Amino acid sequence: MTGKITFTMIKPSAFQAGYTGNILAKIEEGGYKIKAMKKISLTKEQAGHFYEMHIGKPFYEDLTTFMSSGPIIAAILEHDNAVESFRKFIGATDPAKAEEGTIRKLYGKNLSENAVHGSDSDESAERESGFFFSLIERT
Ligand code: CMP
Repeated sequence: MTGKITFTMIKPSAFQAGYTGNILAKIEEGGYKIKAMKKISLTKEQAGHFYEMHIGKPFYEDLTTFMSSGPIIAAILEHDNAVESFRKFIGATDPAKAEEGTIRKLYGKNLSENAVHGSDSDESAERESGFFFSLIERT
């Protein structure tokens, strides 16, 4: 049984470049319903906590520095088979390998500055949603 929610972030570079409106429009046109959403700035420590499963990987330091470099948009999205479908929808992690027309192809620059985050499992979607939103904010 697959879950109905996934979690996404519009990353600092895409927010800074003014792509938020286009990215959100594309997400809604794709049939994803916004269940919760906020603009927020992460500290380096908070970004480190969010990405704690990547501690020890070569990109962890740069990733957490980047994710705390400016405001982001955090959102919970609802859709059937949300996690898998959204990962396909946004394109491959590396924008250079993402399919034409996907958000990462259109708005991503490189592996770190890949425009948006998408949860990689139902468990991650729950954990990540709970990281940013209280119960009352997600109903
Ligand atoms: P995201 O979906 O936010 O989840 C983890 C992030 O790590 C990923 O997107 C990339 O932006 C970033 N990252 C940087 N380098 C790598 C790499 N070599 N492999 C996977 N993810 C990477």
